[in-house]
Amino acid sequence: MAVDVGTDVLIEVEGVEKVFDVRRKAGFLRRERREVRAVDSLTFTVPRGEMVGYIGPNGAGKSTTIKMLTGILTPSAGRLRVAGIDPSRDRSRLAHRIGVVFGQRTTLWWDLPLIDSYRLMRRMYRIPDARYTENLARCVELLELEPLLEVPVRQLSLGQRMRGDIAAALLHDPEVLYLDEPTIGLDVVSKVKVRGFLRDLNAEQGTTVLLTTHDLTDIEQLCRRVMVIDHGRLMYDGELEGLHDLGGGERTLVVDLERELPPLELEMVASARVVKVEGARQWLAFPAGQSAAPLVAEIAGRYPLADLSVREPDIESVIARMYAGGASVKP
Ligand SMILES: Nc1ncnc2c1ncn2[C@@H]1O[C@H](COP(=O)(O)OP(=O)(O)OP(=O)(O)O)[C@@H](O)[C@H]1O
Ligand SMILES: [Mg+2]
Repeated sequence: MAVDVGTDVLIEVEGVEKVFDVRRKAGFLRRERREVRAVDSLTFTVPRGEMVGYIGPNGAGKSTTIKMLTGILTPSAGRLRVAGIDPSRDRSRLAHRIGVVFGQRTTLWWDLPLIDSYRLMRRMYRIPDARYTENLARCVELLELEPLLEVPVRQLSLGQRMRGDIAAALLHDPEVLYLDEPTIGLDVVSKVKVRGFLRDLNAEQGTTVLLTTHDLTDIEQLCRRVMVIDHGRLMYDGELEGLHDLGGGERTLVVDLERELPPLELEMVASARVVKVEGARQWLAFPAGQSAAPLVAEIAGRYPLADLSVREPDIESVIARMYAGGASVKP
């Protein structure tokens, strides 16, 4: 079943701030008070059905944002609505509409077999029988949980536990799913499984997803839209493609020559330069906004060219530059 991405706004964040009052020891008896502005004038909306990546360096304010969106934390200022509900005021009503996975900790009962956690959640959320049975069956099949259901959670591997947690977050059919680092510590195969599951969930059930991760492959494979936060402030909100053009992005021309040569010296295209040489292969960086054609023409005309390909700017390096550039020191 395909679900239309509607125009209704499911998550509304307007001028939101979160300031923590931190006290720390500064001598024998003296304590120092300090304010940490974890989230600062944050404004964005997420329409129903969208899957949005939410990225930023350590301490940027991502988890704080998610905690405010679940109602665990109350904003210091600004306005928040999720499915029309003010999260911190009506946290228990909101709980029926949202699902949350914190990759760093589990919501499952540590000592109980996995299936018992699900039975408890069914009661907590008063999930109707038919819906529970159907949702559990779907998650068990797609997340390959069958052999794990009778295993106590403490005995599960990290990847198994994460799949168990994702299922737990979805048993009550939430409209919104917040994922805070759902692939952290997972091996390559488990990451692929989790991503495939999330993609299908979003496409088939129309679940709105806010995804926080340090693994940019998650974002590249799942999200068209990405938001970048640093020091509590939104630095970028737009298509993933648009990030490529930021911060003086470069494309790379990979040139295979017929034989090993010293780094190519170009006369006509001065903006290109050799960044790496390996045997008969050379890598030339040139501005992302510029056509590769004159560069290719010059190389083909002056050197023994065997093959070539163009690579788009590597998103990792664009993001790294962005984090480095935005790292202003705050008092
Ligand atoms: N309960 C708290 N009390 C005081 N300071 C806090 C609290 N929670 C978070 N902070 C601070 O707020 C800032 C943002 O933290 P947050 O956990 O939101 O970052 P993050 O983007 O999730 O980082 P990471 O990628 O490391 O998970 C940090 O400076 C952190 O130390
Ligand atoms: Mg975090």
